Amino acid sequence: MTEPHGERFCLSRRAFLLSGGSAVTVMALGGLSQALGQGAALKVASYPRTKIGRVNRLKVDHPTTFQYPWKDFNSTNMLVKLGVPAGGGVGPDQDIVAFSTLCTHMGGPLAGQYRGQYKILGPCPFHLTTFDLTRHGMVVAGQATESLPQIVLEVKGDDLWATGVMGLIYGYQANLAVKA
Ligand code: FES
Repeated sequence: MTEPHGERFCLSRRAFLLSGGSAVTVMALGGLSQALGQGAALKVASYPRTKIGRVNRLKVDHPTTFQYPWKDFNSTNMLVKLGVPAGGGVGPDQDIVAFSTLCTHMGGPLAGQYRGQYKILGPCPFHLTTFDLTRHGMVVAGQATESLPQIVLEVKGDDLWATGVMGLIYGYQANLAVKA
């Protein structure tokens, strides 16, 4: 799906069209880089902006669900106001985040597994992986090795918009159509 272009790899026109017109960028995240101890980079796929909620309707530790970037079960995500600042957090307190609810290990369902006391999602009912929602969905325990895909959010007035996905959604190996 990708083709060599000098020393870099670029999306072919066909790959771009197959990806649904999403744009992919590689983003260095200061906080996460520090957490990982070196230059971490996450791949971010941009998708059409979609309104997913209102800031003033969110209550701390009361998650809601939404589908993005596709309207099917496998793209169900969780939106939550953590009550503490978080990596990628938006809103006046930088504490509103959203993540895929499919475990990155083998797709275990994480919906309903949010633990507000610790700001974590998990343990996964399949093999007990737990993800830290204050640190871009990093694995804190369990079988998974990949962070939970984080939904990129934007606030305009009181409206919350999803604009992209940081990471690979389980079962959608092509949602980031870019060569590492
Ligand atoms: S599927 Fe979640 S830990 Fe294995």
